[in-house]
Amino acid sequence: MVKVAVVGATGAVGEVIRQVLLEHSFPFSEIRFLASEKSVGRPLTFLDKEYTILPICPASFEGIDVVLSSTPSSVSLVSSPMAAAMGAIVIDNSSGWRMDPMVPLVVPEVNADHLDSIPKGIVANPNCSTIQMVVALKPLHDAAILKRVIVSTYQASSGKGAKGLEDLNAQITAIGKGQPVPPSKAHIAQLAGNVLANDWKLAEDGYSEEEWKMVRETRKILSLPDLKICPTTVRVPVQTGHSESLNVELAHPLSPENAKKLLAKAPGINLVDELVGGETPQPLFCVGRDEVFVGRVRRDLSVANGLALWVVADNLRKGAATNAVQIAETLIKRGILPKKR
Ligand SMILES: NC(=O)c1ccc[n+]([C@@H]2O[C@H](COP(=O)([O-])OP(=O)(O)OC[C@H]3O[C@@H](n4cnc5c(N)ncnc54)[C@H](OP(=O)(O)O)[C@@H]3O)[C@@H](O)[C@H]2O)c1
Repeated sequence: MVKVAVVGATGAVGEVIRQVLLEHSFPFSEIRFLASEKSVGRPLTFLDKEYTILPICPASFEGIDVVLSSTPSSVSLVSSPMAAAMGAIVIDNSSGWRMDPMVPLVVPEVNADHLDSIPKGIVANPNCSTIQMVVALKPLHDAAILKRVIVSTYQASSGKGAKGLEDLNAQITAIGKGQPVPPSKAHIAQLAGNVLANDWKLAEDGYSEEEWKMVRETRKILSLPDLKICPTTVRVPVQTGHSESLNVELAHPLSPENAKKLLAKAPGINLVDELVGGETPQPLFCVGRDEVFVGRVRRDLSVANGLALWVVADNLRKGAATNAVQIAETLIKRGILPKKR
């Protein structure tokens, strides 16, 4: 049995981590919940038991085997090495550690072998948009070698955490009542009834931080440092569930029919591709599910050996909490957890 600490337990991802641990019957013997000073001392109910939220300090990590952390990266940069120094393995959801060459960046269906070496005691969970994309790309790459990927995202408000959701819900409610729409606090502009292609700060090269995360993280996870990727990340007025349009150029021919066969049997993928009925993955029906949903698999008309796909997943689940819990489950399977002290 494993001793677990959930850091950022009160946040949008932290809340789903608690849910996923229960649903997966995660084998823990002890669990602690940590958050910011604002929440320390507050009660938190889990499995009908009342816990008190603890502060982020070395004593809170004493004897803990695995930490599931989802705080802002500025916090993780301090708290994750603190927990690792106390002997825990940290699975960190923030962007703070993802590109550190000494930190594996893992999606278990894609590169579980990267868990063979965890020199800093930290494993990074990739960005939500990256996770669902690499799960869909992996079987195509294994069959026909990726050459180039063009991706446009349709990202949900909860990608900006609990505050993002508050923005969207308050705006939808106001519109429904015919009242003035409250301005966004977490998003760059009003999201309800709108689409934001600049919800992340744009750099001088015209690309956002989110777009560069998708480029760099995908190359690291797939061990393809030269893979050509061109992303456009966009926020849409959806509560939870990111959607992505992918155009994939392959080195070898792969028909849509054969691609579907491979996707249907790939781990973590639910193929929803009913051409006649027109059924496609929709965020509304992917919420609360752990899989990556793939549909609209068809030939890319613009290039030889090209495929176009539509990929949807729950950003708080496979994009964060589920992937983190699956990493912990993989560490248990590999005998790395519980820690031998
Ligand atoms: N939302 C997503 O779809 C998603 C997907 C993948 C990765 N992530 C990453 O996961 C992390 C958490 O995201 P979220 O969406 O859950 O955010 P969130 O809803 O804003 O929650 C943030 C959590 O971190 C805690 N926290 C904030 N400031 C802190 C501080 N100074 N010291 C200690 N704890 C602090 C908060 O505690 P209090 O409640 O006490 O303030 C809360 O528990 C971020 O790094 C984010 O980039 C998010």
